[in-house]
Amino acid sequence: MNKRKIGNLEVSPIGMGCMGFSHGYGQVPEESYSIEAIKKAYEFGCTFFDTAEVYGQERFYPGHNEQLVGKAVAPFRENIVLATKLHIDENELSDETDLYTVIRKHLEASLKNLGTDYVDLYYLHRVNEFISIEDIAKVMGQLIDEGLIKEWGLSQVSVDILAKAHNVTPVAAVQNLYSMMERDCEDEIFPYCLEHGISVVPFSPIASGFLSGKVTTETKFEGDDVRKFVPQLSKENIIANQPILDILEKIAEEKGASKAQISLAWMLHKYPNVIPIPGSKSQKRILENLAAWNVELTDKEFESIESALNKITVHGHRGHVETQQATFGNNWKSKK
Ligand SMILES: NC(=O)c1ccc[n+]([C@@H]2O[C@H](COP(=O)([O-])OP(=O)(O)OC[C@H]3O[C@@H](n4cnc5c(N)ncnc54)[C@H](OP(=O)(O)O)[C@@H]3O)[C@@H](O)[C@H]2O)c1
Repeated sequence: MNKRKIGNLEVSPIGMGCMGFSHGYGQVPEESYSIEAIKKAYEFGCTFFDTAEVYGQERFYPGHNEQLVGKAVAPFRENIVLATKLHIDENELSDETDLYTVIRKHLEASLKNLGTDYVDLYYLHRVNEFISIEDIAKVMGQLIDEGLIKEWGLSQVSVDILAKAHNVTPVAAVQNLYSMMERDCEDEIFPYCLEHGISVVPFSPIASGFLSGKVTTETKFEGDDVRKFVPQLSKENIIANQPILDILEKIAEEKGASKAQISLAWMLHKYPNVIPIPGSKSQKRILENLAAWNVELTDKEFESIESALNKITVHGHRGHVETQQATFGNNWKSKK
């Protein structure tokens, strides 16, 4: 397994998205099972774990996921890269509010939840029209200088906003939606990030499970399961998107790998700066996804997947909706 870089940090080429243990995917496992799953992922070689302060807000409470991840990684905390995300509500800010104080309060709550005294990678979860991105970048720079965070990143961000932020305090990672079914990032984000030494950390890299081939029109999504709202997973789009699974099926059979593994191996082959963070509540599937770092595609295999993908229309586009959210703040109000 060849490690990859996020700024000055070194990580396994695939990380672990921990959200599903608290939030977003229906029924959550017993805590002991989730903790064991994280430990097993580490023993397998995973050194990159992703959480956020808001994960857990519906089923449990904000901070639930950070606490669970913190407990699980405690025995090997120094050996891993721990990433969490900051979410600022508009009502936390007023003309008298000092942005540093607001962010510092969030960070301290995350540190307490995680049981650590530093965060390796601290993302802004969503950009916000009420806060200047340059001001956020400045505060992140202060936190790096104070040793409270090692690197910082942005999530669901457009290239314009990324560039503004990067000019103030170098950004180490962008966490955007990216998979074989959501390729918007290929237009501007990847070229910019490759040019500026920024890593791209795709979330939902298996298209919320679709690319595993295990989601069918019979699959039921219950409770807070976000898959109810993923457009590619509507019954008609599951049927219409089968040609993508056919591409994966063929190569997966040839390589003796799973479809999910091929979808991850494809992006690892495509970009040297990509570090996907698939999520799963199953110990078995977590290890299956991580093992995709052992599935090496030849250039010929990669090219055949690329050309087949380029001929296909994807039905349902989630990124478009979420990118509007990420870019609505083009008219930044500076608080200075
Ligand atoms: N920055 C953001 O705004 C943002 C947004 C969403 C997510 N994230 C992060 O990204 C991580 C991953 O994203 P995600 O969970 O949305 O999407 P994902 O990794 O594309 O898909 C997760 C879904 O796929 C299923 N799955 C995963 N591997 C599988 C396999 N090998 N075979 C069959 N099914 C499989 C899982 O089911 P099972 O649990 O049953 O295996 C789960 O339902 C999250 O954990 C979170 O840390 C960030």
